[in-house]
Amino acid sequence: MLQEKIKKIESLEELQELYASVFGKNGTMTMRLKDMKNLSNDERAELNRENTELRELFKSRQTKIENTVLNAALAGQKLDVSLNAEPKNRGTIHPLTQSLYEISKILESFGYTRHTGPEIEDDWHNFTALNTPSYHPARDMQDTFFLPNGNVMRTQTSAIQVRTMETQGVPIKMFGIGSTYRKEMDATHGPMFGQIEGLYIDKDITLSDLVGDIRAFLKRFFNLDNVDLRIRPSYFPFTEPSIEVDMKWNGEKWLEIMGAGMVHPNVLRNCGVDPDKYQGFAFGFGWDRLAMLKYNLPDLRDLYGNDIRWLKSCGF
Ligand code: DAH
Repeated sequence: MLQEKIKKIESLEELQELYASVFGKNGTMTMRLKDMKNLSNDERAELNRENTELRELFKSRQTKIENTVLNAALAGQKLDVSLNAEPKNRGTIHPLTQSLYEISKILESFGYTRHTGPEIEDDWHNFTALNTPSYHPARDMQDTFFLPNGNVMRTQTSAIQVRTMETQGVPIKMFGIGSTYRKEMDATHGPMFGQIEGLYIDKDITLSDLVGDIRAFLKRFFNLDNVDLRIRPSYFPFTEPSIEVDMKWNGEKWLEIMGAGMVHPNVLRNCGVDPDKYQGFAFGFGWDRLAMLKYNLPDLRDLYGNDIRWLKSCGF
């Protein structure tokens, strides 16, 4: 009987052959089904039952054979787990990237949204809109790389605050992050460095909101219960008043951490914001400098050297 025959088959090829002889174009079942119109109702029901039964039988036999083949293959393979693995050098996240992630996460948790901008900037976004017209002496505070067409390599991420206010308007709570460029080079300054710019403009933002956010930020970033801050008056063309923030490091020396201030009314006006209705603060700091402090790295230039031996010696 066909059913018995199916159950005895051991190979997939044989099974397929038999299947074709039953369900193929001229297969026995195919022919019988074609003839169905000549059958009585009872005979039809019986044929349908037989058809279903045979198909299921073929299917379950196929699964069974496949499993047997697989099990035999697995039994033939052996995995020697006692062999020593070759040591693999694993990549790690660079300290700069690591601190960038941490800083962004903290600022985002304070409600600042992250923005970027072009590294080649025009004069308007890098200087003029920031209340630093072409004759302004403050341009000399930053040794700028000029491009032949009059554009500059962005000297400060403050350009991002202008771009974001221009496109999104106020109220706004944002930070810009990216590389900046200046003609300088020593242990704590490189020609390229990472800067972060924060901006918070609304109807009743004050300098003490700024100090509160900076304190909370530093506590989180350096994992400290308390930070001692020193707020010094300073000068930036784009803020009035302007301050510089120092932080007591290891309970002994003061380190300059960032520049900040209340955004100058001229800057707001240049970005299409009415300074009689809106005010707020901005701050800017070198994110590589914060990484140096946090991970205790002696020379900023090493951060950009990508020397794996150095990275390892710093625990990365
Ligand atoms: N752009 C300044 C610099 O490069 C940093 C800075 C100072 C940014 C004060 C600010 C600010 O937004 O309010 O030195």
